[in-house]
Amino acid sequence: MNIKVMIVVGARPNFMKAAPLIRALRGYHNSVTRDPASASRTTVSAGIQVVLVHTGQHYDSVMSDSFFADLSLPAPDIHLAVGSGSHASQTAEIMTRFESALLREMPDVLVVVGDVNSTLACGLAAAKICSDVPGTRPIIAHVEAGLRSFDRSMPEEINRILTDHLSDLLFVSEDSGLRNLASEGIPAEKIHFVGNTMIDSLLASRDRARASRILDVLGLTRGGNGSVSPVAPYALLTIHRPANVDDRGSLLSILDGLDEVARECAVIFPAHPRTRNRVREFGLEDRFEWGSQGRDSNGWDRAGQRGLIRLIEPLGYLDFLRLMMEARLVVTDSGGIQEETTCLGVPCVTVRSNTERPVTVETGTNVLAGTSEEGIRNAIRRQLKSSSHHCLPEGWDGKAAIRIVDVLLRTCEDRRSIELRPVRQPPNPPLQTASPVAP
Ligand code: UD1
Repeated sequence: MNIKVMIVVGARPNFMKAAPLIRALRGYHNSVTRDPASASRTTVSAGIQVVLVHTGQHYDSVMSDSFFADLSLPAPDIHLAVGSGSHASQTAEIMTRFESALLREMPDVLVVVGDVNSTLACGLAAAKICSDVPGTRPIIAHVEAGLRSFDRSMPEEINRILTDHLSDLLFVSEDSGLRNLASEGIPAEKIHFVGNTMIDSLLASRDRARASRILDVLGLTRGGNGSVSPVAPYALLTIHRPANVDDRGSLLSILDGLDEVARECAVIFPAHPRTRNRVREFGLEDRFEWGSQGRDSNGWDRAGQRGLIRLIEPLGYLDFLRLMMEARLVVTDSGGIQEETTCLGVPCVTVRSNTERPVTVETGTNVLAGTSEEGIRNAIRRQLKSSSHHCLPEGWDGKAAIRIVDVLLRTCEDRRSIELRPVRQPPNPPLQTASPVAP
């Protein structure tokens, strides 16, 4: 059996979620041959063709290209080059361009990951596609299904809900996802608890991240006399959500909440382009020390004394992973970083009042600080004192992608055997009998 699987990526957090899947799909035939247990689970024996589509939602080399290199992702087969825009125009543009690619390629399976605009746009285009005769469409699979913040002011929440409801296979990364999907009435047979592919990437990349020189580049190692240089304590910051950075007052109160920690140690801030632009627009440049230049080994002390946050370019995956691994504390409003710090056992303060990833708070190292100055300061104090007791959520074991591929192939086999992936059309309306004509 030959299967064509199309995988969509578009924005930074997609790349680490998709990379393990591509590897698992490409390696599947070999693993079936090597692992008899796996072979008994499926009778798939022929080729799997992977078509990688990049929508171009993120396009800067630091937001996109560097991740392809760090994650050893193959170059995209199709690049839609949509670029930035309002939510509606970006989503519409992706849908229009993706529809042509889909009609040309007609994959058996479409995999979308996460909750960005590219996820919804491509899922939605595929859900309505119909290759003229005999009316089939790809199986739509959503990786990272079921997460809910219950905050519909977040564009990602809208993307998650709609993508889940139009998907045929929902791959869930934590328990809360199972509960959320059940309560929304999604049939159980569509839902598969598989674990977390972002954690697959993290575990596969940890050793390579240790070789990153980023700590030296940022002057965070003190020139020790042995081969291992001691690392100065530092906090790592990422803030990019529109609700946090698009309003001057909100951004200022977050920065004020960080004042205390910035006086105690270096705060390293690889800033998203949106945040960098807002800092300039709001005239807040003097709250930061700018640039990613190397500095002398005690430079971090001086920056700390002045209480300035060090704003640098966004980093590649391996450099950022290395910085997370050694950080005393991570402060963030990202979803994925809450998961990555949980896996690494690094204390995390999330600058939001809700999370769609509750497992990171229940069993991991994450606390929700809200967005007020006081809330952030208190959460940081607590986290700096805490001796972290955390355990890894179920299925965050580096094998999520393999579990997903197993389900995908079994599903394809079942559906192939009945020869269809029908577009469900509502039954034709009953024919109206003409009203009797009065004689
Ligand atoms: C998107 C995701 C968000 C994710 C984030 C990670 C949605 C709705 N949001 O938000 O969930 O956490 O990615 O980064 O999909 N820009 C550049 N270069 C780029 C990309 C963006 O300069 O390569 C700038 C542009 O000014 C753009 C702005 O960033 O207008 C926002 O980019 P966009 O893709 O719309 O959303 P993100 O805020 O990145």
